[in-house]
Amino acid sequence: MGRKLIKYNLMIPGPTPIPTRVLAAMNKDMIGHRGPLFSAVTKEVMEGLRWAYETKNEIFIYPSSGTGGMEVAVVNTLSPGDRVIVLNIGNFGSRWAKICKAYGADVNDVKFERGKPAGPGALEAELKKGPVRAVFFQQNETSTGVLNDVETLAKTVRRLQPDALVMVDAVSGMMAAPLKTDEWDLDVVVAGSQKAFMVPPGVAAVSISQRAWKANANSKMPKHYWDWALMKAEAPKGHTYTTPPESLIFGMAEGLKMLKEEGRENVHARHKFNRDLVRTAAKALGLKLLADDSHASPAVTAIFPPEGIDGEQVRAALRDEFNVEVAPGQGELKGKIFRIGHLGYVDSLDIIGAWAAVEVLFKRLGAKVSFGAGVKAMMELL
Ligand SMILES: Cc1ncc(COP(=O)(O)O)c(C=O)c1O
Repeated sequence: MGRKLIKYNLMIPGPTPIPTRVLAAMNKDMIGHRGPLFSAVTKEVMEGLRWAYETKNEIFIYPSSGTGGMEVAVVNTLSPGDRVIVLNIGNFGSRWAKICKAYGADVNDVKFERGKPAGPGALEAELKKGPVRAVFFQQNETSTGVLNDVETLAKTVRRLQPDALVMVDAVSGMMAAPLKTDEWDLDVVVAGSQKAFMVPPGVAAVSISQRAWKANANSKMPKHYWDWALMKAEAPKGHTYTTPPESLIFGMAEGLKMLKEEGRENVHARHKFNRDLVRTAAKALGLKLLADDSHASPAVTAIFPPEGIDGEQVRAALRDEFNVEVAPGQGELKGKIFRIGHLGYVDSLDIIGAWAAVEVLFKRLGAKVSFGAGVKAMMELL
C-alpha cells in the first residue's frame, strides 16, 4: 500500500506520446488497400508530407522504421565502389556509414567530437580531396542532441561538387526544426512516423529530387523491397508496392492534420521553447550539457548528471520511482549522460513535471544541487 504515480510520462526522442486524436484515427477497420478509399488517404499523407518537407519532390512511404528509410536512400542512388562522405557526429552518423559500407560503397567516415555539429570547414576540406557521389549527414543527431546546420552543409556541397547528392537523415528533426527541402536543394530526405508526426513507429518517408532520380538510373546496388522503380508505378495511384501499414497511414493523416492546424512556425517554436526550458533547468542546477546553445537540438537534450551519479542510475530510478521514461546515453556516451526528449506531442507542463521528478531524485541520491532551482527557472521562463 502507498502512494503511486499511475500515469506514464514518455520523455524520449521517439517513439513519442500519441495524441488521442491520432489513436482514434488509427482505430479503424481495415479496408482494401488498392481501392479508392485507401488510395485517398495515402494521397493525403503524401501531400501532407510534402507540406512538412517543404518540397514539390516525389515522396515515397514505406512500411519500415527510420533505418529502412536510410537504406532506401543508399540502395537507390549508389553503386558498389562509389566514393561517399559521411559527416558523423553521433550514433546515427555511424549508421549511415554502416549502411553504405554494407552495400559496398567506399566510405570516408568523417568523425566529429561528440556534442559538436558537422563543421562546413571540415566538409570543404574533404570535398577538395576528390569527387564523391554523395554526402550523408543528420539534420538532428539524436544520440547527442545536436542540430546540424543543414543549409550551410548543403550549400558547401553544391559550391564544391554541384553533382554530388546531399542525403539528409531528418528522422528526429523533421518538423521539430525548419528543413526546407527544395530551397536548400536536398536530394534525399528521410523521416519517420514516430517522432514529431506523433504516430507510432512503422512508417518511413523518403523524398527524391531530380538529381536523385538521375543517380537512380545508374544505381547498381542490389534492391527489391526498397526499389524506387517498383514504387514509382504505384505512388501516383495512391498505392504502395507492398501492403501498407493501414492503421499507421490513418494515424499519419491525422498527425499531419494536427500539425497543419497548429502551424509550422508554431510547431517549431514549441519545440524550441521546450528545449530552452530543459536547458534552463539543467543550467540552474549547474549541470553540464553535451551540446552548446548554438546548435542545441529542439528534439532532445543530453545532460551530464551531477558528480558521482551515473546516467543509467538516473534513468532507472526515474522510471521505477516516478514513471518517467528518459533515454540513455548511446555508444561511447552510455552511462555518462541521460537524454530528455521534448519531441512530438509534448508540452511545457509535461516537461516541468518530469523535471520536478529529476530534482527530487537528485536530492534522494545526495547530489549537491540547489533543490528546486531548475523548476523555479522553468516557471520564470513560462
Ligand atoms: C536521427 C535518427 N536517425 C535514424 C533513426 C533510426 O530510426 P529507427 O529506429 O526508426 O530505425 C533514429 C531513431 O531514433 C534517429 O533518431
